[in-house]
Amino acid sequence: MPALADNFGRTFHYLRLSVEDACNFRCVYCLPNGYEKRETEPPLSVDEIRRLVTVFAGMGFWKVRLTGGEPTLRRDIVDVARAVAAAPGVRRVSLSTNGYRLAELAPDLLGAGVRSVNVSVDSLDPARFQELTGHDKLPTVLAGIDRCLALGFDAVKVNVVLLRDVNDGELERFLEWTRETPLSVRFIELMQTKTDGDFFTRRHLKASGLVERMVEAGWAETAREPGDGPARRFSKPGHRGEAGVIAPYAADFCSSCNRLRVTSRGRLRLCLFAESETTLRPWLASDDRLPELEAKIREWIGRKDVSHYLPEGRVGDVRNFAMMGG
Ligand code: 5AD
Ligand code: SF4
Repeated sequence: MPALADNFGRTFHYLRLSVEDACNFRCVYCLPNGYEKRETEPPLSVDEIRRLVTVFAGMGFWKVRLTGGEPTLRRDIVDVARAVAAAPGVRRVSLSTNGYRLAELAPDLLGAGVRSVNVSVDSLDPARFQELTGHDKLPTVLAGIDRCLALGFDAVKVNVVLLRDVNDGELERFLEWTRETPLSVRFIELMQTKTDGDFFTRRHLKASGLVERMVEAGWAETAREPGDGPARRFSKPGHRGEAGVIAPYAADFCSSCNRLRVTSRGRLRLCLFAESETTLRPWLASDDRLPELEAKIREWIGRKDVSHYLPEGRVGDVRNFAMMGG
């Protein structure tokens, strides 16, 4: 089976699958007013997810990330993870979470085949964390991270969205965390969504300044490996962990794109910032329709744009990333 490739020579092996669009946090850049239910359809069932992932894996997708919203709001998240990890060809299953249930779920997730977690932590100051998320849960989230490290997950990553005049004074503290702790701290540039123009203007902070400071402090960029996505990775002698920088507004960000997204209701998105989606759900109802599903995906990939056109001001139709899993 030929790998899935687009018109620009990029090949795809990484599926970001949102399994739940609801979230219990109210991050200032994502759901400042909290989650509002818009969907009437239920999220994909475990059976639908199994079929979807089987088809993607058959096309060479070996990496699957479960995202949200908040994936652990699903009561059956461990069953979802097990079904995904069991699909032939899937070699790496990871989970993005706000971490509020991670301490209790980590052993079962690991048992189900999840090998890597990404946890959002935008501040290490409990009061600021509460201001940013609406919840006084920093200790709970940190306990979840510690649990994953203790259980021996292959990768524990911490996502920090860069926010001007909010957490830019804490970046050294995040980096310091990696000295004794084998986790990867990843700084992410704030991205503009359809509804947050003002917030974006006030809070967007370019990652380039941070990279300069890191290099001055002895961090060196790690050579890229085949299959790496758009994150740049940095390490520093004496640190057990590493740092990463995700700068979607940087030139050439899209040339290493290796991923597709599917929403919690089974809609295929070719890019986080795409202006359209197509539903895959009709083909997920039974095993015998899976060849048609594959044909549909192969046809749609031809529509993938070369770039997200963010620097040109495109914001896509994403109201917030809870819809889509960042
Ligand atoms: N800009 C950048 N990242 C975002 N996320 C959500 N909204 C945004 C945004 N506007 C990402 C963050 C967060 C994860 C849940 O989604 O990485 O940690
Ligand atoms: Fe925060 Fe993620 Fe929830 Fe959005 S989906 S409110 S970024 S925890």
